Amino acid sequence: METVVSGIRPTGNLHLGNYFGALRNFLTMQNEHNCYFFIADYHSLTTHPTPADLHGNVRQILVEYLAAGLDPEKSTLYIQSDVPEVVELYLFLNMNAYIGELERCTSFKDKIRQQPENVNSGLLTYPTLMAADILIHRATKVPVGKDQEQHLEMTRTFGNRFNRLYNVDYFPEPQAFNFGNELVKIPGLNGSGKMGKSEGEGNAIYFADEPEAIRKKVMKAVTDSGPTEPHQPKPEAIQNIFQLMKVVSAPETFNFFDEMYNTCQIRYGDMKKQLAVDMIAFTEPMRERIKSISADEAYVSRVARMGKEKAQENAAKTIREVREIIGFKRF
Ligand code: TRP
Repeated sequence: METVVSGIRPTGNLHLGNYFGALRNFLTMQNEHNCYFFIADYHSLTTHPTPADLHGNVRQILVEYLAAGLDPEKSTLYIQSDVPEVVELYLFLNMNAYIGELERCTSFKDKIRQQPENVNSGLLTYPTLMAADILIHRATKVPVGKDQEQHLEMTRTFGNRFNRLYNVDYFPEPQAFNFGNELVKIPGLNGSGKMGKSEGEGNAIYFADEPEAIRKKVMKAVTDSGPTEPHQPKPEAIQNIFQLMKVVSAPETFNFFDEMYNTCQIRYGDMKKQLAVDMIAFTEPMRERIKSISADEAYVSRVARMGKEKAQENAAKTIREVREIIGFKRF
């Protein structure tokens, strides 16, 4: 059995891409492994130092995780800031994280380009905080996408460096959790790339979106003037709406529009109308669960408290041991 850690920043609601990217796999992982799924609210301050509703954002992700089927009895679902032990480990790791390696990190270089007015040291040490999240549970597996691989590599570096410096074999080397070919790529609605909150307004379908909002977004999806010859390869934007249809519609529906495309009879307005109907139906159960869980204040609080307790128990043990390894002693 592996110890798995995964964090998500509370900077937006969950969308279809999150679900097919990782969340769906978490549902099976929680049955097989010792999983810690947390909401990285400390991390969100590196880019959003004064969030309008931090607590609301965190709560929303927690509710959506539960609605997606994460089971607080099977895995540990918690909020990062509920476990300040993480911050102490972050401090220890920072003592041996070198400015040069932090500055070379791709995500740091991207972020300082995106927010030149706020190049804070939290951004620089984002990878040490993430390493602390992972090492605090002495995790062996971390489900990460391509964009997080460098952070995971740095986590191994920091863990190994700690082991070497203090001459211990304490932190295991966390590896990427590979979902194999179970990942379904979910494209966005704006014609290029994958579904994501950073890809602009209207690109992502959120589970919390109301049907009318979904319909509007789908109807605005980028298309073109249609094929001019039979069996023409599909341009990316068209490929994207077909891919979305493959995920949410019945196979016959997909095949029908595919045939229409191949015979140059397609009308994208009709296709998008159908896609909107199917998208709304597909997301309906999630939307309903989000609403009912969100209304249950007592349940949400109970889940958060339970997660805090379970995560803190393990984190406190690590901190106790790390302090001892470094040489802090009680008087
Ligand atoms: N950096 C991750 C992201 O942006 C979020 C994250 C924070 C994380 N701590 C983590 C992911 C620990 C996995 C493990 O997606």
